[in-house]
Amino acid sequence: MLKVKNLYKSFGDVKAVEGISFEVKKGQIFGLLGPNGAGKSTTISIVSTLLRPDEGDVLFEGKSILEDSVPIRKKLGIVPQDIALYPTLTGYENLSFWGSVYGLKGAELKKRIEEVSDIIGLNGRIKDRVDKYSGGMKRRLNIGAALLHMPQLLIMDEPTVGIDPQSRNHILDTVLELNRQGITIIYTSHYMEEAEYLCNEICIMDEGRIIASGSKDELVELVKEKTQINIRLNKTDDAALKILMKIDDVMDARIDDGQIILFGTNSDVLLAEVISMITANGLFIESIDVKKPNLEAVFLHLTGKALRD
Ligand SMILES: Nc1ncnc2c1ncn2[C@@H]1O[C@H](COP(=O)(O)OP(=O)(O)O)[C@@H](O)[C@H]1O
Ligand SMILES: [Mg+2]
Repeated sequence: MLKVKNLYKSFGDVKAVEGISFEVKKGQIFGLLGPNGAGKSTTISIVSTLLRPDEGDVLFEGKSILEDSVPIRKKLGIVPQDIALYPTLTGYENLSFWGSVYGLKGAELKKRIEEVSDIIGLNGRIKDRVDKYSGGMKRRLNIGAALLHMPQLLIMDEPTVGIDPQSRNHILDTVLELNRQGITIIYTSHYMEEAEYLCNEICIMDEGRIIASGSKDELVELVKEKTQINIRLNKTDDAALKILMKIDDVMDARIDDGQIILFGTNSDVLLAEVISMITANGLFIESIDVKKPNLEAVFLHLTGKALRD
């Protein structure tokens, strides 16, 4: 559906995007994951035809959007990172405004506003002024504005920043529901757990470049991250540590703060091996906690820094 080819964009001395390429297939929830300043919004602005790249091209359904921006604009919905709403108007009036921007009017516009209010869960409050809305409600209305013209490709730029957990969950579920209805989605975030939850395909960006891409499982596999198991035994001592080190899949283990911190191969049998080794040696587990590798660990591994600092 969308091919992004070798994009470059600088703002003066700041190289915002340096050679970004990726492909989004129809039906995907495609994630652009990266910390603030990685170049996500710049990339998205280029794809949305709001910004021209210094170099590179974007093909939408096989045709360059730089040569002709009309085809993508017709089928694209954009949820910008900064909320674009009129605070003194009602939710309904805001949707009505955005609908008219997309060329909707009359009965069709009214019908779409009702449908969209339902999708974003605001139909009870849609006649209230936006300055009476919570941050989460504003975010949801912002999403609604992008849905009125029934886009086939929806681009969402950090749509959950700075809102309460309940609104956040509502938005994540809305994303999944829209995707089920057939909308292809590009979702940017610096929250790795959102990308893990939503996306079939993820590009991890840092400093204007893509540093890794693939499904969550592929990314985790790529860096051979280790599973961590924290164990508290009836006797947590060096003897117990030695016993656990005998397991082939255990790569490293130490005692810290009265518990054993063990690192092992990211395999399905590691936990079973650990438990059976413990019980076979007459020890008892008081608590056990398994931490599977996640995208945060992948990012840390690739860049040496945390995703959110
Ligand atoms: N209009 C602009 N003028 C100057 N610098 C910009 C502009 N837009 C973005 N930048 C810079 O480009 C880099 C990438 O920004 P951005 O694409 O917004 O990253 P992200 O969305 O991942 O946080 C940052 O260093 C940012 O300060
Ligand atoms: Mg951004």
